[in-house]
Amino acid sequence: MMNNLVIRSVVRGLLVNGSRGGRYISTATAATTAGVLKPTEVLTEFRSRNGASVGVLYWRRMMSTSAETAVAEKETTEKSVGKQGEKEVASLKTSDGSVISSYWGISRPKILREDGTEWPWNCFMPWETYRANTSIDLSKHHVPKTFLDKVAYRTVKLLRLPTDIFFQRRYGCRAMMLETVAAVPGMVAGMLLHLRSLRRFQQSGGWIKALLEEAENERMHLMTMVELVQPRWYERFLVLAVQGVFFNAYFVLYLLSPKLAHRITGYLEEEAIHSYTEFLKDIKNGQIENVPAPAIAIDYWRLPNDATLEDVITVIRADEAHHRDVNHFASDIHYQGKELREAPAPLGYH
Ligand SMILES: [Fe+2]
Ligand SMILES: [Fe+2]
Repeated sequence: MMNNLVIRSVVRGLLVNGSRGGRYISTATAATTAGVLKPTEVLTEFRSRNGASVGVLYWRRMMSTSAETAVAEKETTEKSVGKQGEKEVASLKTSDGSVISSYWGISRPKILREDGTEWPWNCFMPWETYRANTSIDLSKHHVPKTFLDKVAYRTVKLLRLPTDIFFQRRYGCRAMMLETVAAVPGMVAGMLLHLRSLRRFQQSGGWIKALLEEAENERMHLMTMVELVQPRWYERFLVLAVQGVFFNAYFVLYLLSPKLAHRITGYLEEEAIHSYTEFLKDIKNGQIENVPAPAIAIDYWRLPNDATLEDVITVIRADEAHHRDVNHFASDIHYQGKELREAPAPLGYH
């Protein structure tokens, strides 16, 4: 009974508002609604109200934990004809019964890997992947000379103390937690440059994209680590608190001194390289099991199918070295009294 009421009100809203020129029903709402109904009930209700199929329903698991599972998802397609022409109704069912609906019928084209198997990820596409440059110099260090550089360096060293005490040598957990912070600076800086570009009617010299790519790359580090280590409830709470503080602190800092903000990030990346080097040491000496690489990492970094955790940490560390160079470079540009857009951004590598 409750289910019927919910679906009727959703369908009514869609039909009434749709005829007025389009109301968007979010996929989240639809997913929640459909989640309490059997998929067939949803379709039946749509047809009985409209006399035609309305858009496309997708049943799929959003973030698959393994490529194999995602590929194995069952897809069925159903077609029906209404007053306004033929519309396609496609459905994907998952073992956990989760449902994602798109009433506007936007479907992702079928994408294949080079070997002909189906591309299982919605969160990134084959052309967004890359091969890490593992030959990058890992030992480079920006020697702090100016007052601001020393402030940045000391700040990062100070921040490292509580993390060392909290995590000690639990590098998997440490990496997972710190990646939730590492993805913030690129997003904040990219967002602020984006807004500046709008305000000043100016190009950014590619820096918006470069910094947002850095944020995305860091987020992929997190998506990889979370396949290996599951956060506990108090760790989730900690992430929430740290994000609230760090996002706002970095936002204000970037407004006041992008030079200092990029320098701090540069030093944070130097610390990340150090942490991942220690992580690799523990894998090599057997203290951390060298498990097979998660499927998401194999596709994102284009690793061989038999890649291991060691390979994953090696490419992640190379990414951190790249972020280190990008952020020290950005700070140096500001040190020369210039804006980032005056120097071409290092695009093309995440
Ligand atoms: Fe990272
Ligand atoms: Fe990083």
